[in-house]
Amino acid sequence: MAPRLLPFVLLVAATASTVWAEGSVKCSESDRDALLAIRSALSESHLGIFSSWTGDDCCSDWYGVSCDPSAGRVTGISLRGESPDPIVANAGRAGALMYGRISPEVCRLDRLTTLIIADWKHISGPIPPCLTSLPLRILDLVGNRLSGPIPDDIGNLAHLTVLNVADNHLSGTIPASLSSLSSLMHLDLSNNQISGAIPSDFGNLGMLSRVLLARNRISGGIPSSVGSMSRLADLDLAENRISGKIPASLGSSPVLSSLYLGSNRLSGGIPSALVASQGLGILNLSRNIIEGEIPDSFSSGSYYTSLDLSYNQLSGAVPKTLESAAYVGHLDLSNNKLNGAIPSGSPFDHLEAASFAGNSGLCGGPLPAC
Ligand SMILES: *[C@@H]1O[C@H](CO)[C@@H](O)[C@H](O)[C@H]1NC(C)=O
Repeated sequence: MAPRLLPFVLLVAATASTVWAEGSVKCSESDRDALLAIRSALSESHLGIFSSWTGDDCCSDWYGVSCDPSAGRVTGISLRGESPDPIVANAGRAGALMYGRISPEVCRLDRLTTLIIADWKHISGPIPPCLTSLPLRILDLVGNRLSGPIPDDIGNLAHLTVLNVADNHLSGTIPASLSSLSSLMHLDLSNNQISGAIPSDFGNLGMLSRVLLARNRISGGIPSSVGSMSRLADLDLAENRISGKIPASLGSSPVLSSLYLGSNRLSGGIPSALVASQGLGILNLSRNIIEGEIPDSFSSGSYYTSLDLSYNQLSGAVPKTLESAAYVGHLDLSNNKLNGAIPSGSPFDHLEAASFAGNSGLCGGPLPAC
């Protein structure tokens, strides 16, 4: 710093923040105290990430901390255990571990819009409920050992676009208030112990494009309102306890490209509109108790990289219209009650017997002749 600035700096040093040459302001004392409380609730012995969290100005070179420089207020914390940053990457796979808890003092950072504390594998304790009072846009706590519920009033986070708490030990239900997160684009609760039903008004989440809820204990049905989510591209509900029918409304979902419903307790039939849905590239309904015929509603607009209907109670014939599909990569119709001759034609030519195994009534194609 130029010496001529010194008197000015001394003048304002007694106040909470200091004005620097280009109008940027040193971090607020209360934000710095909150960060120090966060630091002391976490421990990380290998990487020395927190060794940069020293000195007065938490807005200058504190690893993973970002600020609004004109206000000297902390707006983001981004600490990723699987980051390509040299400080993390150099530690190697075994090194990127962090223990401890997320201090509720984080809620004193009342300008915080991004909170990422991800992939540290051992951070435990609850998600601090007071987080719902912050102006968060991104909340990413994936890959830790967090337990307890998702805060009940998560719906207060009106600006939230990303909620990722996958790969933790969270329990409790999906809070009813979640349906009011009208800015939410990406929701990932996968791989926890979340139970209860998907709120019936879930379809209100009109900005949501990825909904990943796989590998939990979710029960109840798939709300038909899901079909009205105009931006929904990926829906993964696999490996839960979801029952009832697949809502026909999903077939009119305009941009749905992958639908994973495998390993649940779904019954009833496959909606014809779903099979016909153009743009749907991955459909996995494996390991349910779905019955009836496979709808004969494929067309030249069908382009499936993967279609897995295995381990259900499907009966009747392999649909003829599959021949007209533009592309069928992986096809698995095994372990159903299908019968009759397997049609011939382009999508069938490259398929192996395994795609049709376990259907005692099927013949032809890669299976023994009829
Ligand atoms: C379909 O889902 C089931 C259950 O989740 C899974 O085991 C299977 O591997 C999936 N199929 C494909 C082709 O990915």
